[in-house]
Amino acid sequence: MARITHGIACSHIPVLGYAFDHGKEGEDYFRPAFEGFEWTRKFMKEEKPDVIVLVYNDHASAFDMKIIPTFAIGCGESYPPADEGFGARPVPPVEGHADLAWHIAQSLILDEFDMTIINEMKVDHGLTVPLSMMYGHVDTWPVKVIPLAVNVVTYPPPSGNRCWALGEAIARAVSSFGEDLKVQVWGTGGMSHQLQGPRAGLINTEWDNMFLDRLIGDSQDLRQIPHIEYLRETGSEGIEMVMWLIMRGALGRSTRALHRHYHVPVSNTALGHLVLEPVDGSVPPSPTLEQSNAAAQTLVA
Ligand code: DHB
Ligand code: FE
Repeated sequence: MARITHGIACSHIPVLGYAFDHGKEGEDYFRPAFEGFEWTRKFMKEEKPDVIVLVYNDHASAFDMKIIPTFAIGCGESYPPADEGFGARPVPPVEGHADLAWHIAQSLILDEFDMTIINEMKVDHGLTVPLSMMYGHVDTWPVKVIPLAVNVVTYPPPSGNRCWALGEAIARAVSSFGEDLKVQVWGTGGMSHQLQGPRAGLINTEWDNMFLDRLIGDSQDLRQIPHIEYLRETGSEGIEMVMWLIMRGALGRSTRALHRHYHVPVSNTALGHLVLEPVDGSVPPSPTLEQSNAAAQTLVA
């Protein structure tokens, strides 16, 4: 059976992609940011996951105001890096895992998450920067990736509670896939940052660290943080952190932290990174799925 082995949270700051692509990782400004990923690169080499369900947001690269899916899953074979205005990043195309992705899509939709299905798209810094952080310079990515895109760009984004519930539904989907695969779930974006307006440059180290603390162990109370708190405390782009709750929801009741890294500043953004291992990975069954199954039973009886 496929199983979720770890969850990883990671900011996706575009300037880190720029520094990485232009050999600037060792420069004074960038070194402390990159050093915090050395532990994880070694861990990934030893751990060798087969597939990552990579939760991220598109920044008007694949979608624009014409179409704004709340939750979308990539079921395609491969995803080239997007040109975000300065040419595409010189990183390999991302290979999908179509069989597992279609299985997850089916399971989520029957579990009453109405996913948008994507077969072709380009992926931007939201997805490729975390891959570079975790794998370093490679000719091909040594893992398959299922992109899971979340709208956090245009109001209204999904609630943190809904994101957590989606994570639980992803865990149910993965555990019902018959192939023996090691699957990680990543949540990207954040931490505190605001890129425009009078509060541009806002960083809230105290709130960010509270969020990191509470993602470890039993994190249920994070589900209740309202949008307005993310906006007020962490700036307009801090709302990206609801995506971390999809990752956390997929890890079940309790977790322990294997690695933690926080650094300010990178660009206008607080960099946060966490590697989590499920301690009690049990995820509650979906009541709606049970109801659907009961209804299906009556149909076939
Ligand atoms: C920056 C950070 C982001 O998360 C993003 O998506 C775009 C820009 C920044 O710090 O510049
Ligand atoms: Fe972003």
